[in-house]
Amino acid sequence: MTKVAHTVLIPRSQIADRVSELGRQLAKDLRADLEAMGESEPHEVVIIPVLVGSILFVADLVRHVDLNMSMRVVTVSSYPGATTESKGAALKGALPPDLAGRHVVIMDDILDTGNTLAMLKRLVLEQNPASVRICVMLRKEIPREGEADLTPEYVGFDIPDVFVVGYGLDYDGLYRNLPDIVILEDPESV
Ligand code: IMP
Ligand code: MG
Repeated sequence: MTKVAHTVLIPRSQIADRVSELGRQLAKDLRADLEAMGESEPHEVVIIPVLVGSILFVADLVRHVDLNMSMRVVTVSSYPGATTESKGAALKGALPPDLAGRHVVIMDDILDTGNTLAMLKRLVLEQNPASVRICVMLRKEIPREGEADLTPEYVGFDIPDVFVVGYGLDYDGLYRNLPDIVILEDPESV
């Protein structure tokens, strides 16, 4: 990272504050759903982290969700290799098969075109869950023509259309471990 020009977009303290707020909001909403349905089963809430980008976000957020939950990861590849252009989304492997009647929360690092999350939401809905929520750390502005129309229930930050890394987000597999969310200047020259 030291060799790459970057600008901090969202500093770690701001990330931490927002993630704790989102976690508490999600817990409140899930609790309301569970109470409304009279549910007390310990396996009703299923968090689905989209690997690899969401791991830091999920790890931090679930510690603010004071409810029983299970976690089932999925892997989607949409940015293979060193590129900053979306290539469409492909699910690697299978979706967890036992989501019927459960409250599902799909979590990802960033919503860009929306293709990844639109695909996952469609697949989850095929299993007739009790509810599906989408929770993203970042959402890029300006839905572009022809791209998936998807409104997440929870958004950490709306950001401009720039390429960001850090806090789980990568460029060619790197920089996920940066504690701040930063803008990579001229990523193609890395
Ligand atoms: P979508 O399917 O176009 O919404 O793409 C979502 C996926 O693209 C995310 O899960 C990220 O892996 C990747 N992505 C989109 N924008 C960025 C970015 O600015 N930095 C790093 N990865 C990104
Ligand atoms: Mg990703």
